[in-house]
Amino acid sequence: MAASNKSPPTLRWGIIATGQISSWFVRDLSLSRSDAKAKHVIAAIGSSSQEKGEAFVKEWIPKVDPAPKVYAGYDNIYNHPDVDIVYIGTPHGFHKQNCLAAISAGKHVLCEKAFTLNARDAKEVFAAAKEKGVFVMEALWTRFFPLVQELQHLIHEEKVIGNVHRVFADLGLDQDLASLGPESRLKNPALGAGTLLDVCIYSLTWGLLSLDRNIGEAAEQPVIKAVQTLSDTIDVASTVVLFYPSTGRQAICTSTAMFRTPDVFCRIEGSEGHITVEGVSASCPSAFTVYSKGQSLSEGKRFTTPNPGFGLFWEADAVAEDIAAGKKENTIMPWAETVRVLEILDEARRQGGARFPVDD
Ligand SMILES: NC(=O)c1ccc[n+]([C@@H]2O[C@H](COP(=O)([O-])OP(=O)(O)OC[C@H]3O[C@@H](n4cnc5c(N)ncnc54)[C@H](OP(=O)(O)O)[C@@H]3O)[C@@H](O)[C@H]2O)c1
Repeated sequence: MAASNKSPPTLRWGIIATGQISSWFVRDLSLSRSDAKAKHVIAAIGSSSQEKGEAFVKEWIPKVDPAPKVYAGYDNIYNHPDVDIVYIGTPHGFHKQNCLAAISAGKHVLCEKAFTLNARDAKEVFAAAKEKGVFVMEALWTRFFPLVQELQHLIHEEKVIGNVHRVFADLGLDQDLASLGPESRLKNPALGAGTLLDVCIYSLTWGLLSLDRNIGEAAEQPVIKAVQTLSDTIDVASTVVLFYPSTGRQAICTSTAMFRTPDVFCRIEGSEGHITVEGVSASCPSAFTVYSKGQSLSEGKRFTTPNPGFGLFWEADAVAEDIAAGKKENTIMPWAETVRVLEILDEARRQGGARFPVDD
């Protein structure tokens, strides 16, 4: 890890797992961006097999030079001398053990959402990180989009729609679960299957960020009301209502595995107008439109920002800057916020009925 006042910091990544999100992540790390705030080196890839790891490099980052070293298994990544930080792209059920292994080897960690299966496990990981003195963050990439930062500013500082009182946010995917085997991360409860941890976490993010400027310990803790539609023990649809007793604000945060949400996935209602947010999914917003009270569809003011990749490089830049500055956690996604969101998810499952073996 090297940093100077003049050049952006360099961060050397070791990647654990070669599934979908890891492919997007390495592609974004390898993008050439004139406004990049860090230089990202993809030093090593760990996969269940050498062949799979090599095929991943060939398909997703064939032009990265020098090519990352590929290893069968993850242990070589935790202990690799050229790796500063381990990116964890395994299913949620493995995150705790992967994080603890990386931390124990003295590596910084960026771990995919949901960070762990429950809040108790997240606290254990953060305690280990604190003791070891390494940086750890949940990869809640959406929060790092400049568009999301701008939206929060307009809602909370500029108050462009007055007092926000209600939010609807949805992330639905048409996952055809019947076609998947029981070992799939979308079907296996031991891996954290179900829409709640997989996608409702994004709907919740919109509710939380729109209704309260504060996060983590500073935020007001909403009352949670939740229902889930279960198939076996996993949820195929979840609705989580956040209710803020001090103001009466509400967020209705939903997810389903049976229907793909249309482009407009969120509506934020205020005393002086409303905002709609659109994108391929609630995880990856591309634009929002602000309507003053009474304005028609054609009269709204649309905001958008360029996204030359998937949008995962913004969180990666933030992590590199934090580590260069000697920080152990990030202010946009601090440890307390990860724990708070997992406590909401725990409570939603307690009310809704989805259980994971780790709960017992
Ligand atoms: N897909 C998305 O859009 C997305 C977006 C944001 C976050 N995430 C999060 O990222 C994590 C991974 O999601 P994904 O969609 O990338 O999953 P995925 O495509 O199924 O890939 C998961 C990878 O984890 C490794 N793995 C190790 N043990 C496994 C097991 N028993 N079953 C399945 N995979 C196993 C495999 O890589 P190797 O064989 O190479 O070891 C596999 O390719 C999840 O926590 C998810 O919530 C996903």
